[in-house]
Amino acid sequence: MTATEIPTARAIDPDKLMGFVFKAVGEVGATLNTALVVMGDQLGYYRAMADGTPTTPAELAERTGTDEHYTREWLAAQAAGEYVTYDPATGRYTLPAEQAAALTDPASPAYLPGFFQIAHGTTRDAHEVLAAARSGDGRGWHTHNADVHDGCERFFRTMYNAHLIGEWLPALEGVAAKLERGARVADVGCGHGASTVLMAQAFPRSTFVGSDYHAGSIEIARARAAEAGVGDRVTFEVAPATGFPGRDHDLITMFDCLHDLGDPVGAARQVRAALADDGTWLVVEPQAGDRVEDNLNPVGRAYYGFSTLLCTPASLSQDVGLALGTQAGPARIRDVATTAGFTRFRTAAQTPFNNVFEIRP
Ligand SMILES: C[S@@+](CC[C@H](N)C(=O)[O-])C[C@H]1O[C@@H](n2cnc3c(N)ncnc32)[C@H](O)[C@@H]1O
Repeated sequence: MTATEIPTARAIDPDKLMGFVFKAVGEVGATLNTALVVMGDQLGYYRAMADGTPTTPAELAERTGTDEHYTREWLAAQAAGEYVTYDPATGRYTLPAEQAAALTDPASPAYLPGFFQIAHGTTRDAHEVLAAARSGDGRGWHTHNADVHDGCERFFRTMYNAHLIGEWLPALEGVAAKLERGARVADVGCGHGASTVLMAQAFPRSTFVGSDYHAGSIEIARARAAEAGVGDRVTFEVAPATGFPGRDHDLITMFDCLHDLGDPVGAARQVRAALADDGTWLVVEPQAGDRVEDNLNPVGRAYYGFSTLLCTPASLSQDVGLALGTQAGPARIRDVATTAGFTRFRTAAQTPFNNVFEIRP
């Protein structure tokens, strides 16, 4: 059968068909909600409701300096999606405490706006990925709109705040002690430097060099380090992962970037060459199992979506274009490491969103 032929009629279960249609209606609502959450975040709607005071559309408009026609429709959409509650007796809407934490508190481990922001930015660029899927071309990380870069920083920083210093680094053999004493660290593919700055704040005797091929990200990372007061021990360089600066590092880190690289094996060889003999390579990747069927769950769904629209095109845009995929899984990551000459590979920690690998020569 060619792609244009219509398949022969197949028996249809009408209940299953309608079940699928209503599931799809829910998903269209959820798709639009991505933009509505970004709207609530950027216009300050959620923050204005964070104290739990029941609010009318007019009051929300007044408090945020926005137009009531928009707060009225936005609140109704949020109520239909169970982001806020609605009391028909008073015509007031309330942001529950849990939603307030997840949508307004950057210190909460459940802080979500960055996740929506990167999804919103990603779907806005999807038309170009459609063209690339026909031709087999890629689309570089640096070519995306700022919501992709800023959303990525905000989304991942939440996880690093929650786990990096207290769980992931202590899970690596001997690494936390070295960092306490004073270690040399390279953070490769560091983006806006959220992980680099966090580590520098936690380990004042250590020095850090962050690198990324995207000059715009490095400019922001430098500003973040200066704002955090760690600019004296943290430098940032524009460099590809296959040629990042420095030698004899005690720790080399890659946070959520290995699968984005065109040439992860080339980058792994560079890590091997730049690592001290007793050094550690820390690779944090999205949570995934090795088989597709291991990842057919809500987290896997989100990550396969990002993989199709963001990470796989990013890898394909570069030399080699290995396109590991966002959900590469431990076995493929281990293959990358062993091909580059590493001999020890261990899953050191896991969260519902992250696999944390300890890799050593
Ligand atoms: C998903 S982002 C993660 C950024 C950062 N590590 C974080 O956790 O917020 C992937 C990063 O890999 C960088 N990147 C992609 N290809 C690269 C390459 N060949 N060399 C260096 N960095 C690269 C991108 O510019 C981007 O900053």
